[in-house]
Amino acid sequence: KNVNAGVITLDRSGKIITINETAVTLFGLREEDCLNKNYREIFTSELIRKIRFFLRNQERTRQDLESREIELSLPDRNVHLAISFTRLNDEQNNYIGMLIIINDLTEIINAQKAVAWREVARRIAHEIKNPLTPIALSAERIQRKYASLLQEGDKVLSSCTSTIIKQVSALKQLVNEFSNFARMPQAKPTMQDLNEVISETLNLYRHARPDCDFSFQPDENLVPFLFDQEQMKRVMTNLVDNSLAAIKSVGGGSINITTKLDKSLQIVIIEICDTGLGISQQDKSKLFEPYFSTKQAGMGLGLAIVKTIVQDHRGFIRVKDNHPRGTCFIIELPFNLEAP
Ligand SMILES: Nc1ncnc2c1ncn2[C@@H]1O[C@H](COP(=O)(O)OP(=O)(O)OP(=O)(O)O)[C@@H](O)[C@H]1O
Ligand SMILES: [Mg+2]
Repeated sequence: KNVNAGVITLDRSGKIITINETAVTLFGLREEDCLNKNYREIFTSELIRKIRFFLRNQERTRQDLESREIELSLPDRNVHLAISFTRLNDEQNNYIGMLIIINDLTEIINAQKAVAWREVARRIAHEIKNPLTPIALSAERIQRKYASLLQEGDKVLSSCTSTIIKQVSALKQLVNEFSNFARMPQAKPTMQDLNEVISETLNLYRHARPDCDFSFQPDENLVPFLFDQEQMKRVMTNLVDNSLAAIKSVGGGSINITTKLDKSLQIVIIEICDTGLGISQQDKSKLFEPYFSTKQAGMGLGLAIVKTIVQDHRGFIRVKDNHPRGTCFIIELPFNLEAP
C-alpha cells in the first residue's frame, strides 16, 4: 500500500478492488469513495478512455502488459503520468482483472524542461550580446564623424544612427533579462520578516492602482525565518504584477494575500488570490515555463523566475482557481530558523 507509485486493481467487470494512498492522493479522491465502484464512475474521461483502449487492445493482441505516458488534466493541475496496465489471469488463463501502476513524472519532466530552457536562454544571450557593442560603437562613430559634415537641416543620418543606438540598447536590456534568468543568483537566506516584506511590496502598488482593492492578512504568529529577502520581493512583485494585469483586463477587482505558519508541518504558506481574468485549464500546465505568455508585451519569464526562486528555497508553488473567479497562487516555504 505504501509504495511511491499509484497502484489500482480492477476486477473483470472494471470494479475497483484496491487503490493505494498514492493513487488516491494523485487523483484527489477518497479511498472509501472508490472501492467497489466501477472505474468509469470515478476517473476522468481521459483516463477512462486510456483504460478502455488498453482493454480493447489487449483483447485483440492478447498482450499482457502495456505501458504508456499520458498527459492528464486533473481538476487543479495537469500531470504527466507513466501508466502501465497489466492483465491479470487465473490458472486457466482467463481474464480476471487488471493491475494499473501509475508513476507521476510531472516534476521530473518540468525540471528537465527548466534545465533545457536555461541552457537555451544562456546561449541566446551570449550569441546576441557579443555583436551588440561593436554595432552601437560603430553607429556612434558614424554620427560623430559625418553628421557635422552634412548640411544643417539634413537630419536623416543622425536620426538613423540614433535609432540604431536606441534599438541596440533595447536589445541589450532584453538579452540581460535572458541571462538573468539563466544565471539567477543563488538564494542567500537570512532571518527576515516575511509579513513585512509582503506589506512593503504591497505599499509600492497601493497608490498606483486605485482600480484594485488590496488586502493582507498576515499570520501574527509568523516570526522571522530564513529566506532571501531580495528574491522573495521578486516573487511577490511578479505575482502581484500578474494579478494586477488580470484585474485590469476585467476592469477592476481585488488582491488578497494571506500568510500562515503551519507549526506541525514546519512550513509557511503564502496565498495570493485575485479576482481577475483567471487562467484556462490548458494554460495552467504551461504557466511556469519560460517564455510562456498570453500578453502582447510579456516576456513570460515572471513565473519561471518565481518558480526557480521558490525551488531554491526548497519550497513549492502551485496554482488553482479562485472562487467565484480569478486565480490563486499558493507558495509553501520551509519554516527554517537555522541553516539546514
Ligand atoms: N494572476 C493571474 N491571472 C491570470 N493569468 C495569469 C496570472 N498570472 C499569470 N497568468 C498567465 O500566465 C502567463 C505567464 O505569466 P508570467 O508572469 O510568467 O509572464 P508574463 O506576465 O506574461 O510576462 P512577464 O512576467 O515576463 O512580464 C501570463 O501571460 C498570463 O497569461
Ligand atoms: Mg508576469
